[in-house]
Amino acid sequence: MTESTIARQNLRGPALRRSFRKPYPLAVRGDGVYVWDAERKRYLDFSGSAAVNFIGHGVHEIVDAMAEQARQLEFVHTSQFTTPVAEEFAQELLDFAGQHFTGGAVYFTSGGSESIETALKLARQYQVEVGEKNRHQILSRNQSYHGATLGALAVSGNRKRREIYLPMVREFEHVGMPYCYRCAFDCTDSCYNCGQQYAAELEHAIEAAKGSVAGFIFEPMSGATLGAVTPPPGYLAAVADICRRNGVLLIADEVMTGMGRTGRNFAVEHSRVESSAVTPDILVAAKGLSSGYAPLGAVIASRKVVHAIAGGSGAFLHGFTYNAHPISVAAGRAVLRRIRSQKLVQAADSSIEGTAGSALRVALESLRNLDAVGDVRGLGLLWGVEFVADKKTKTPFPPAENFAGRVGQACQRRGLLVYPMQGCVDGTAGDHLLIAPPAVITFDEIHWGVEQLRNAIIEATS
Ligand SMILES: Cc1ncc(COP(=O)(O)O)c(C=O)c1O
Repeated sequence: MTESTIARQNLRGPALRRSFRKPYPLAVRGDGVYVWDAERKRYLDFSGSAAVNFIGHGVHEIVDAMAEQARQLEFVHTSQFTTPVAEEFAQELLDFAGQHFTGGAVYFTSGGSESIETALKLARQYQVEVGEKNRHQILSRNQSYHGATLGALAVSGNRKRREIYLPMVREFEHVGMPYCYRCAFDCTDSCYNCGQQYAAELEHAIEAAKGSVAGFIFEPMSGATLGAVTPPPGYLAAVADICRRNGVLLIADEVMTGMGRTGRNFAVEHSRVESSAVTPDILVAAKGLSSGYAPLGAVIASRKVVHAIAGGSGAFLHGFTYNAHPISVAAGRAVLRRIRSQKLVQAADSSIEGTAGSALRVALESLRNLDAVGDVRGLGLLWGVEFVADKKTKTPFPPAENFAGRVGQACQRRGLLVYPMQGCVDGTAGDHLLIAPPAVITFDEIHWGVEQLRNAIIEATS
């Protein structure tokens, strides 16, 4: 495309955009589940932007809390001060994360990728502090996504987002992960056995690394790369047990799944129904933590991790200028209060009839009768719809057709925002959408959204 064509079609501006191949509407206002552009077109935010917004747009009490903090004190540097808002919100977050985090501590950042970088370095420093100086590797899973910075990319498995940067990245072993719709083991037991085989793969990788593994990072439910794939029963418990037995820290990346999105405070809690609970040493949150009102991430560290540093060298060798930014932290604290007062975690619970989560599950399941819909999966208010060219053989569409992208564009024309992705089959092929609306969505809005989605899929198929 020539420079003049790009300029004529308004495909670029002074703010560097994600793509020069599509126009971006100018967003000017948000309220509840809706966003408006400068031409007054209304969009139903069926994906919470990118699984970010959980409490709804335009909530005045969050804006007021941020403004009040800004009036009192806009910023101090964490090398000189802590703040009441950071101390209070950290305690509230530890309580929200559950008993396992009693006596732990929270490190606030400006988003998911910064939090992942922090968690990786925290795991490394923990091992050094406890005398395990050789432990420096972080194992992770193929087809995962942990962020855009180079350290986070190194532990991610999302081929498309990594490929050209790989020469710049220091990589460690990636292990396979269960993906029941495309199970490689032909399971007939809801993938219980194959889950155990994938867990065993982790143990082999840890053994092969000969005492040099510091941590294992995983998404309790695969987010962007695979599209809301839930783990088979027993898999996460087995993984947690392997890490514990081998002195490897368990790092749960709940950037997308945390803060109520899956109908639990954190998605690892779904494993509580199993015999041994999955209790991560480090839990990472972002996105829903501030619901998008301010850039905010959090690394929630258990007592064991914090104490190793506090009682050891005495200082975490890491920091960003904008750690625990008071205005962002004030936004997060107000968001958590809103989540509690409006009972939004309960609203997201898809296992309870009468909730938004359950209504979304039932409505999305109805898409299965479309030829192009191969799978509908998820939990709470985080769902994936996977598209196939042939339902029987599960053959994906040719990647060049950009099927998910075309469904996304057809949705947008209809005033519906979804989150299309490619690569779920092998990193390149495979099309899916993420659906992750704010928890304040009504049943009527869910039905309207799914109807528009159905029509958009039909349009993209014909
Ligand atoms: C599971 C997971 N981890 C980390 C990240 C990176 O977060 P951010 O985009 O806020 O840097 C994302 C973003 O989508 C994510 O889904």
